[in-house]
Amino acid sequence: MKTRATELLGVALPIVQSGMRWVSRAELAAAVSNAGGLGVISAHTQPDAEALRREIQRTRSLTSKPFGVNLTLLAANAGVDIEGFVRVVGEERIPVVETAGGSPAKYLDALKKSGTKVMHKATSVKHALKAQSLGVDAVIIDGYECAGHPGQDDVPGLVLIPAAAKALSIPVLAAGGIADARGLVAALALGAEGVCMGTRFLLTRESPLHDAIKARMVAARETDTTLVGRRFGDSIRVMRNARVEEALKLEAAETTTHHDLLPLIGAGRWMEAMASGAADDAAFPLGQCVGLIDDLPSCAELIATFEREARALIQQRLASVF
Ligand SMILES: Cc1cc2nc3c(=O)[nH]c(=O)nc-3n(C[C@H](O)[C@H](O)[C@H](O)COP(=O)(O)O)c2cc1C
Repeated sequence: MKTRATELLGVALPIVQSGMRWVSRAELAAAVSNAGGLGVISAHTQPDAEALRREIQRTRSLTSKPFGVNLTLLAANAGVDIEGFVRVVGEERIPVVETAGGSPAKYLDALKKSGTKVMHKATSVKHALKAQSLGVDAVIIDGYECAGHPGQDDVPGLVLIPAAAKALSIPVLAAGGIADARGLVAALALGAEGVCMGTRFLLTRESPLHDAIKARMVAARETDTTLVGRRFGDSIRVMRNARVEEALKLEAAETTTHHDLLPLIGAGRWMEAMASGAADDAAFPLGQCVGLIDDLPSCAELIATFEREARALIQQRLASVF
C-alpha cells in the first residue's frame, strides 16, 4: 500500500499502533513494526528519560524497522520530564513522534532539529489546524468513538475525518473506532492517509494486559464503554464495570470535584489493575470498536488480515458496486 502516510513514516502499510500508557512497550511496538505497520512506545510509561532510552534500545533489539515514541502532554502529566524525553528521542534518532493531549509547540524546534517527524493527535478540526500552523508533519484526528480522551465535541469519525481531510493540507491519519480492514478502507475513502489504533492493539497477543481483562474486553459490545470526567471538561472513554458505575454516581453528585473522581478513574489505579487482572477495579480506557473485536491475534496475524481484507474489499466488494 502507498499513501502519504506510508511515505512519511517509512512503513509498508498505513497502520499505526497509537501510544497507550503502560501498554505500548517494546514487545508490542516491535511486533507492529515487524509486521509492516508503525509501532509506537509510550514515553510516560517510563519513569524518566534514561528509562525511555533503555526501552528504545530494547525495542531496537526486537526490530530493525522504524518505530515511534508517544509524548502525552496532558496537564495531568505536569511533573513529567518531557524535555528529557525529547532529548533522548533526538539522541536515539527516533524517526517519528506522536504528540497528544496538549500543544507540541514548545518541543517542535528540538524535534525538527533532530529530523524527527511529528504526528499530532487532535480531537477537533480547530486543534488540527492549529497544529498544522505550528508546523507538524501530520495530524491524527481522533473521533468520539476512541478510547481515552475524545475531547468534548462529540463528533464521530464519519464526520470528523472528512472534515479534517478537507481542512488540512498535511496528511491526516484517522483514529477512533477502527478495528478491521473495513475501518481502514472507510478511513481512506473519507480522505485519511492511514489509521491509528489503540483498542485493537490492546487486544493482541503481544499486549501486556492481563488475560482476565483481555477476556472481559473481547466479550464486550459496542455499548459497553462510557465517558467519565465529562462534567469537568476531561472526558475519558472507558470500559463499563463496577468501578466506573461508582465513578459515574460520584460524578453526578453536585458537590463532587474532579479531584474527588481521580482515585477511582486515575491512571495509577488502572495501570495496577491491568497488571493484576482486577477487571472491576479501575476505569480502563477502551474504545467503542471493542464491539467489533472477538479475537486476540498476534500483531503479525492482525496486520496480515488487514492487508488481505482491505485488498479484497477494494478490488472485489467496492469494484463490484459499479
Ligand atoms: C489502554 C489505553 C491507554 C491509552 N493511553 C494513551 C496515552 O497515554 N496517550 C495517548 O495519546 N493516547 C492514549 N490512548 C489513546 C490511543 O492512543 C488512541 O488515540 C485511541 O485508542 C484510538 O481509538 P481506538 O481505541 O478506537 O482505536 C490510550 C488508549 C488505550 C486503549
